Amino acid sequence: MHPLLVLCGLLFSLHTPSCSAATDTLPRGHALAADERLVSNNGKFTLGFFQPGSKSSNNTLNTYLGIWFHKVPKLTPVWSANGDNPVPSLALPELIISRDGNLVVLAQGTIMWSTQANITANDTIVVLLGSENLVLRSSSNSSDIFWQSFDYPTDTLLAGAKFGRNKVTGLNRRMVSRKNLIDQAPGVYCEELAVDAIDLLWKSSVVYWSSGEWNGRFFISIPEMSAQSGSRCNYTFVNNDQEVYFSYNLLNENMIFHNFLDVSGQIQTRVWSDLAVDWITARTQPNDPCDVYATCGPFTICTDNGKSFCNCMKGFSIRSSEDWELEDRTGGCIRNNPLNCSGDDKNKTGVTDKFYSMPSIRLPQNAKGIQNASSANECARVCLNSCSCTAYSYGIGGCSIWHGELLNVVADDNGEPLHLRLAAKEVQSWKSNKRVIITGVAIGASIAAMGFLILIVIWRRIREWSSHAMDNDQSGIGIIAFKYVDMKRATKNFSEKLGGGGFGSVFKGCLSNSVAIAVKRLECAHQGEKQFRAEVNSIGII
Ligand SMILES: *[C@@H]1O[C@H](CO)[C@@H](O)[C@H](O)[C@H]1NC(C)=O
Ligand SMILES: *[C@@H]1O[C@H](CO)[C@@H](O)[C@H](O)[C@H]1NC(C)=O
Ligand SMILES: *[C@@H]1O[C@H](CO)[C@@H](O)[C@H](O)[C@H]1NC(C)=O
Ligand SMILES: *[C@@H]1O[C@H](CO)[C@@H](O)[C@H](O)[C@H]1NC(C)=O
Ligand SMILES: *[C@@H]1O[C@H](CO)[C@@H](O)[C@H](O)[C@H]1NC(C)=O
Ligand SMILES: *[C@@H]1O[C@H](CO)[C@@H](O)[C@H](O)[C@H]1NC(C)=O
Ligand SMILES: *[C@@H]1O[C@H](CO)[C@@H](O)[C@H](O)[C@H]1NC(C)=O
Ligand SMILES: *[C@@H]1O[C@H](CO)[C@@H](O)[C@H](O)[C@H]1NC(C)=O
Repeated sequence: MHPLLVLCGLLFSLHTPSCSAATDTLPRGHALAADERLVSNNGKFTLGFFQPGSKSSNNTLNTYLGIWFHKVPKLTPVWSANGDNPVPSLALPELIISRDGNLVVLAQGTIMWSTQANITANDTIVVLLGSENLVLRSSSNSSDIFWQSFDYPTDTLLAGAKFGRNKVTGLNRRMVSRKNLIDQAPGVYCEELAVDAIDLLWKSSVVYWSSGEWNGRFFISIPEMSAQSGSRCNYTFVNNDQEVYFSYNLLNENMIFHNFLDVSGQIQTRVWSDLAVDWITARTQPNDPCDVYATCGPFTICTDNGKSFCNCMKGFSIRSSEDWELEDRTGGCIRNNPLNCSGDDKNKTGVTDKFYSMPSIRLPQNAKGIQNASSANECARVCLNSCSCTAYSYGIGGCSIWHGELLNVVADDNGEPLHLRLAAKEVQSWKSNKRVIITGVAIGASIAAMGFLILIVIWRRIREWSSHAMDNDQSGIGIIAFKYVDMKRATKNFSEKLGGGGFGSVFKGCLSNSVAIAVKRLECAHQGEKQFRAEVNSIGII
């Protein structure tokens, strides 16, 4: 390995605290080096340079200046400075206060990012406040603030920050999703305060979700704000001549709470659990990921079934699997075989193309109605006669055809059939593949049978070794598997019983000081021995 790489590896070991005593202030004349940190005086937030992603992957590891939760072992940025201008992997950045008093990120003598404020003092310092706010101010007068990170949020709305518009200066504080899980560049989704509601927008143009009006206590489409969360946050909504903003405060100061607009365009509200060593998502908005505009990109079908909700349409393949793995699916899917008339000769019509029918679909928008096509066949022919037509549907509303990319196609039991145009070659290839599939299934079945036997053996072994059963039912809370011992600890050895039934009993537990759970303990006799299995029944935020 190149010696410089080793050096960088050491310098960027993110999770080892810096040797120097933590401070929350960067004075003038000092530089914050790539491996140094500021820590807010309440120990909640850290400012420093970070490199999202893993070194083993081929992604070039860019460096960003950012703020993250100090006590969360899983690096979770809440703000980043140079999202669209990262420091390339081998350059060592530093953070300094420049001669004009602004805060700048320098790398190899180049300014990568600057606060670009009008500074009227010659003694500016930078302080990371306990609220996550990074403030550039005069050292002699702490109310003389020239710039603050609260005014330039990225994807996260933190407690105490104002979300909304200053009507005098025009400054609009809004949340913008990140490009993907590691690239901190702005993505296509944003969250904005409209007149008196929170809107989610795609490419700043299409509103795909709205919170409803503020009624004095909560946004009317989020009644949970008043009930369940009423006890963990209090909310402020201000609309006067100077400004309109929304903000919240946490009533439990120790709760580690994250409200952000994620890569796929949903607002996520989640809480850190020390016991689970992971984030626990309490709420997403919109609730159905398929309601996010174009979240799966063109030529996909969105299905609200948990994790893998985007799939390519028949005859299409993922455009960039790298992006999909990093949860950016907006690139969608591309055609495996070109249509007959998609080549240079636009004159000929694609009469050899075929249609593939998808039975129950919530149809995409931007359909073109064809009045004079009075049968499904005529409708299909109209589509074939236009080179840019990609699908048709013939239903109660008559004939509709779609040109170009198909967006927002959602699997829906109450939907209508959509006929997707594909190259004849594509359809033929399925026919010739049938033989292969049949032999494939035969071989697959015998392998599966063997696999099943092996599984049974392993399962028996596990049962014999211990009665610790992992709860792998992921339907309840999504992502986390708990060990039986963890459930035992969380419920203080199953001491607080909430109820019971034939299956066993339900106990009260705590995952952290802000996450309560109900744990179902099931009893079963195995070879005369009493055994227990525990699973999380429900989860709530205190
Ligand atoms: C990663 O890089 C290696 C060598 O540069 C290359 O052979 C490999 O295909 C790359 N993998 C991916 C997933 O890009
Ligand atoms: C800084 O001052 C200049 C000149 O007075 C003005 O044009 C500019 O808008 C100011 N910038 C900010 C961020 O206030
Ligand atoms: C900063 O400005 C003040 C007046 O505003 C002046 O008295 C002081 O000498 C200046 N300090 C430096 C280091 O230039
Ligand atoms: C401190 O700064 C604020 C805001 O600029 C100003 O209103 C106030 O007069 C200043 N105080 C002193 C002592 O200079
Ligand atoms: C909201 O909570 C904060 C922090 O506990 C408190 O300072 C503030 O007064 C509360 N505001 C209202 C309107 O209750
Ligand atoms: C396209 O259609 C024409 C007939 O209209 C046919 O002659 C040609 O072979 C087709 N091309 C492909 C690639 O299927
Ligand atoms: C395009 O179609 C028209 C009418 O069918 C025909 O006259 C013309 O020759 C065609 N052009 C080409 C380049 O094939
Ligand atoms: C429908 O009307 C369009 C013009 O409006 C015409 O070009 C087309 O041939 C008609 N199709 C049928 C099936 O009548």
